[in-house]
Amino acid sequence: MSMSVVERAARAPYNFILRHASPTIKRFFWDREFASGKWNFIDDTASDTSYPYLEKYSQKGSILDLGCGPGNTANELAFTAYRSYLGVDVSEVALAKARERTQRCGRSQKNSFVHGDMLSFVPPRLFDVILLRESVYHVAMGNLKSMFERYSQYLTKDGVFLVKLVTGNRYTSMTRVRIIESDFEVVEKGEHSRDGSTVLVFRAKRALS
Ligand SMILES: C[S@@+](CC[C@H](N)C(=O)[O-])C[C@H]1O[C@@H](n2cnc3c(N)ncnc32)[C@H](O)[C@@H]1O
Repeated sequence: MSMSVVERAARAPYNFILRHASPTIKRFFWDREFASGKWNFIDDTASDTSYPYLEKYSQKGSILDLGCGPGNTANELAFTAYRSYLGVDVSEVALAKARERTQRCGRSQKNSFVHGDMLSFVPPRLFDVILLRESVYHVAMGNLKSMFERYSQYLTKDGVFLVKLVTGNRYTSMTRVRIIESDFEVVEKGEHSRDGSTVLVFRAKRALS
């Protein structure tokens, strides 16, 4: 599912501008991306490295997926592995695909989707897992800490963040991993040579008593 290193490098200038753009501009860009069919290659990701972690940590509970895209996770994750799933994305085109796929897979009772920018989105309830699967690249490094601190309020008592990113030894991805490792309590980290991905499971640091 992951983009090649060359494709990623070519997109870097766009990504830089987009991280700081308004939600309307982000939506325009991502809608155009998904409508073009350019991202159809991510439609089948059944063996994604994040799924075993999601199954382990959601404990058959609730998942909030920030930058959910066209609904892979919501429809490929084992049906019995979760109780409810809410996907958020800036692209209405991606959300329309996600809703259509959810209906086709008979998962409308469990999956729902809402339009929003993860930088400002306010979750409607608490979640057992807050997931960013290949969407953390779209958050500027300077916003990472404060964003995860804000979302910490929306995790259940034993809830965790789960971030999957393809590092490919790229400086910007590795730095994101380092920021998370230094500012949060990492519960589990997996590095997968199969696709060069890193999965981080973490939560806010707990005060020593
Ligand atoms: C590489 S795709 C990953 C999609 C999905 N998580 C997956 O792994 O299949 C990145 C997604 O992040 C979304 N996105 C980018 N910036 C966002 C933002 N600020 N808030 C919410 N979604 C965003 C894009 O629209 C796109 O769907």
